[in-house]
Amino acid sequence: AIKVIALCGSLRQNSSNRGLIRAATEIAKESIEGLQIEYLDISPLPMLNTDLEVDGTYPPVVEAFRRKILEADSVLFASPEYNYSVTAPLKNAIDWGSRPPNVWGDKAAAIVSASGGSGGVRSQYHLRQIGVFLDLHFINKPEFFLNAHQPPPKFDSSGDLIDAEVRAKLKSLLLALHAFSLRLKRN
Ligand code: FNR
Repeated sequence: AIKVIALCGSLRQNSSNRGLIRAATEIAKESIEGLQIEYLDISPLPMLNTDLEVDGTYPPVVEAFRRKILEADSVLFASPEYNYSVTAPLKNAIDWGSRPPNVWGDKAAAIVSASGGSGGVRSQYHLRQIGVFLDLHFINKPEFFLNAHQPPPKFDSSGDLIDAEVRAKLKSLLLALHAFSLRLKRN
């Protein structure tokens, strides 16, 4: 099976991006054989400070985070855009994973975003650029970005996805991530 770790760039309790991860997890479980999605909370990670590194080891929460990424085949990023870019919590998590040895290398990845006006597209391109240095291999299509504020509502007040069309789009992206992950794993 392909093991996917899902990271959310918003720390809000009722985050719509967290809702996308819940929906993705359900879709995989119900209808995509051989695709397992596990949510990994990035909020316990301290702000990156290389003074916290002692003789090449990291604080226990950071070690646990890095191990989870290492053991996964793929990464699903679900994040809003903050000021036209990647959110600080997500960048912090990525930076911790990039410390030696880089845990992101040769993994397949996909991005979904629920955000303001343009649905987070600008932040998606920043994330892709970060992935260049980390050797993360993003699928190109389908693209998935969603204006979370545009009516009709796509999420309920607790952040759960309630739109069938968006759910179907999310499934297409997961199928593409699954197929690409299998190709990478075979090589
Ligand atoms: C935002 N938001 C935002 N939206 C957008 O489309 N482009 C942007 O540049 C920004 N910038 C921005 C900065 C900061 C500091 C905050 C707090 C918010 C809006 C944000 O994307 C929106 O609230 C999302 O719906 C939040 O996602 P969650 O928390 O529901 O997952």
